[in-house]
Amino acid sequence: MSSTNLQKKSPVVAIAGATGAVGVELMTCLEQRKFPLSELRLLASARSAGKKMKFRGADVVVQELTDDSLKGVDIALFSAGGAQSKRYAPAAVKAGAVVVDNSSAFRMDANTPLVVPEINAAAMKSHNGIIANPNCVAIVAAMPLWPIHQKARIKRLVMSTYQAASGAGAAAMQELSESTKAFLEGRPFTPKVLPHPYAFNVFSHNTRVDPETGYNEEETKVMQETRKIFGEPDLRVTATCVRVPVLRAHCIALNIELEHALTPAEARALLANAPGVRVVDDIEKNYFPMPVDASGKDEVLVGRIRKDVSDPSGKSLSLFVAGDQLLKGAALNAVQIAERLLD
Ligand code: A2P
Repeated sequence: MSSTNLQKKSPVVAIAGATGAVGVELMTCLEQRKFPLSELRLLASARSAGKKMKFRGADVVVQELTDDSLKGVDIALFSAGGAQSKRYAPAAVKAGAVVVDNSSAFRMDANTPLVVPEINAAAMKSHNGIIANPNCVAIVAAMPLWPIHQKARIKRLVMSTYQAASGAGAAAMQELSESTKAFLEGRPFTPKVLPHPYAFNVFSHNTRVDPETGYNEEETKVMQETRKIFGEPDLRVTATCVRVPVLRAHCIALNIELEHALTPAEARALLANAPGVRVVDDIEKNYFPMPVDASGKDEVLVGRIRKDVSDPSGKSLSLFVAGDQLLKGAALNAVQIAERLLD
């Protein structure tokens, strides 16, 4: 196990998957948060090699992701898909880097910390060179649930998602835009990235469904990862994951059964003080978390905080959250992990 501290205060940082939807946001987060780096290396597939991208006002030429391109890198932010992470993250570690991996490749590996810094930064204390960034839904849901869990202990959690195109990458976002345009112009459109028509439609998450459990892979990830982030292997949790025709922020309806009673007002007060969370719960104006308000924002929005009337004990609450899938659900969380590496 390595220690978390990188001795260098101005590391060489690489982004693997720099041209993707998350990769671009990783660059923006590094720039906006003034991440102290001495060099930024942008890596993608051979298709993108030679392309120029702007960072801090200067052109950076994209290089092909290879073992050689990772030499001399101190922190490697991976967001090029699970297959690339499996292939190249070990090479990056061998070359001396700490990898923050946005894919699902190592998340459930017992020796890989799965980190949301506001919740379990302590898990980063020791690692084998790879720190995993959780699934976007798991992060967005965990942010408002954690303060409640600490106060009143969640016994059972039911999640229903409304997931944006961004979770399936830049090509899926483009497919949503193009298919909507085609629909409005009365033109036929054949989906290429997602399995079903996306414009004006809603469909069950496009990952494989396990015939034994009936859960798709996204649902399984969300359930397993929530337990791991919270350090609660026995937490009773179920999820239904659905794609909605929204470009980039996920919404999640949450229903929780608590060990100790907690009123909506108490939950609201806890959430008002929670880092990285913003309460949007205006009953009078019927104004609650929405993807358009969450897009481009660092905070996870939470509202519709109410007692679940189906449980007369007062120990169940319902909530609704919206969080930018590309920011807190991916790039921002990864950069926050990288920042902690320098602490
Ligand atoms: P490229 O743009 O060259 O295909 P998204 O999640 O938005 O689909 O983005 C995926 C990212 O992963 C892109 O930056 C993409 O680069 C990169 N990528 C995909 N396949 C490979 C590969 N074989 N080697 C390196 N990078 C890859």
